[in-house]
Amino acid sequence: MCGIAGYVGPKNAVDVVFDQLKRLEYRGYDSAGIAYLQDDKIAVTKRAGKLSELGKVLFESPKQAELAIAHSRWATHGGPTDENAHPHYDQYERVAIIHNGIIENYLELKEHLIAKGHKFKSQTDTEVAAHVIGEEYANGVSLEEAVRLSAKRLRGAFALVVMSNTEKDKIVCTRNASPLVLGMGVGENLLASDIPALLPYTREVVIVEEHVVAVLTREGISLIDAEGRSLPVKTTHIDWDIASAERGGFEHFMLKEVHEQPQVMRQVVAGRIDEKSKIRLEGIFGENVWNEIDRVNIIACGTAYHAGLMGKHFFESVLRLPTDVYYSSEFRYGDPVLSPKSLAIFVSQSGETADTLAALKLCKDRRIRTLGIVNVIGSSIARECDRTIFTQAGPEISVASTKAYTAQVMVFALLGLYIAQVQEVPGVKVEEWADELLQMDGFAEQCLKLEDEIVTLAGEIKDMPLCFFLGRGADAFVAAEGALKLKEIAYIPTQEYPAGEMKHGPLALITKDVVSIFGATDPRIREKVVSNMKEVQARSGKVIAIVTEDDTLTEQAADHVVRIPKTKFEFLNALLAIVPLQLLSYHIARLNGCEIDQPRNLAKSVTVE
Ligand code: G6P
Repeated sequence: MCGIAGYVGPKNAVDVVFDQLKRLEYRGYDSAGIAYLQDDKIAVTKRAGKLSELGKVLFESPKQAELAIAHSRWATHGGPTDENAHPHYDQYERVAIIHNGIIENYLELKEHLIAKGHKFKSQTDTEVAAHVIGEEYANGVSLEEAVRLSAKRLRGAFALVVMSNTEKDKIVCTRNASPLVLGMGVGENLLASDIPALLPYTREVVIVEEHVVAVLTREGISLIDAEGRSLPVKTTHIDWDIASAERGGFEHFMLKEVHEQPQVMRQVVAGRIDEKSKIRLEGIFGENVWNEIDRVNIIACGTAYHAGLMGKHFFESVLRLPTDVYYSSEFRYGDPVLSPKSLAIFVSQSGETADTLAALKLCKDRRIRTLGIVNVIGSSIARECDRTIFTQAGPEISVASTKAYTAQVMVFALLGLYIAQVQEVPGVKVEEWADELLQMDGFAEQCLKLEDEIVTLAGEIKDMPLCFFLGRGADAFVAAEGALKLKEIAYIPTQEYPAGEMKHGPLALITKDVVSIFGATDPRIREKVVSNMKEVQARSGKVIAIVTEDDTLTEQAADHVVRIPKTKFEFLNALLAIVPLQLLSYHIARLNGCEIDQPRNLAKSVTVE
């Protein structure tokens, strides 16, 4: 999510880390900062906004340092302000840290530190981590020991980079889940969250394994494991060009983002499911409000609208809470009938979509409660909604949305379970659901392993004139998102339909070249879907089925069966089916030579009506 940079060596470290941050700008960020040594103090300069804002204050006077760390922030805990930007000091200003990720137990730690007299200047989880490290360091151990011991007290995903004003020659870093790479130079060493920020300086890279603590000095890099034992340092030579390094070695941002989904699924739930498998959603309405809500209206555009359809499915099937989903552009001019006790939920990756923003204003004028499900912190929709839940998916660069969708649907599940918990909805096994949500990353990993099979399948159907996406229940809603992906990046006409509706018209379009992709991930209605598949086959259409791994029914009615993992809940099976559909669209578009990350006529953020 955030950009991390660090340098120790003979060059001017301030210039080097600033340049490194510039090389990470493509990822998107909302504030930036830097720490370097000035005499016996750590100087910190940080600003909300673009790097140019930081540059203005930083380079007002020349700066010279041999060691510096720097950060570009994508806000998660606390808005994009100067105070919340990294680096953060510990209580005694003896260490400064930058951080990428989410510390799940930061509230507990913060309470414990406040009780001991610690004062905090920001709302971030990072500052809490800084204080934890500062506390360990105050016991007189080395900086790497303080970091190693602190990491054991932190729960969540993090890459932490630390410097101190007493051990002036070293940068110490560690990671758990979040990315961190080291660059080995000659008489200089570097670190970064991503390889592009190292390449102008060195092509010898050290990948930091989870829970390993690394120490960088001018002379070298050393590694210790979680128990403090020394580890060998292995370098990898990187021969990617800068552009492909930005995409993490993937050919396109879309593919990179599809592959990020397991990590995103971890991030969405991070800190939101506690040890007792209870849902913890901070900063949303109080319990009395949830007990009063009689109806939900979900309002969004594009992929976010499709996530809203899944939200409706969850709210109605699990909570029995009446829910409607509207396209923002229809809602705003549709003179909607709104109950004063209803809740309007606005779903948006960018938080800036003009129609969604206008629909939000309409609800506010009518004094309806509003809740945002938004990816970009500090965006207009996030600011305007009464309350907002952030999807924590990290910057999405490809125009075709992928990881934002899975994050939005996961948030709907979390929110629905939270409501069930508050209202004590009978029959909803919140803990069982929560445990399954915690395993979604592993299931998504398994779906990504289908890629080779999908590439072959893409080759077989890439010239189809038309593709139907079909299903029943939640599968029908995922079908809509699958259809959108294929048409927007591969320019193939697509049509989504509830499978049972085919016979009322669409079957007339079936010929031998037309492909129908059926989602049949729900065993309870699979037989019915198989009948619909047979209707298509009987008219010589090609049938592809996406099913859970235990299925034995669809083989007889499909030309190709794609098997995904089976979870405990049909809703989650359906969500996982989007992964092979995203991969299929991507590989068809690639084989057909389409411009994948920026499809013709489309924009990532639609800020005009
Ligand atoms: C555009 C983008 C889509 C996105 C939609 C809604 O059409 O290309 O990927 O789903 O806008 O955008 P939002 O930022 O509000 O989610």
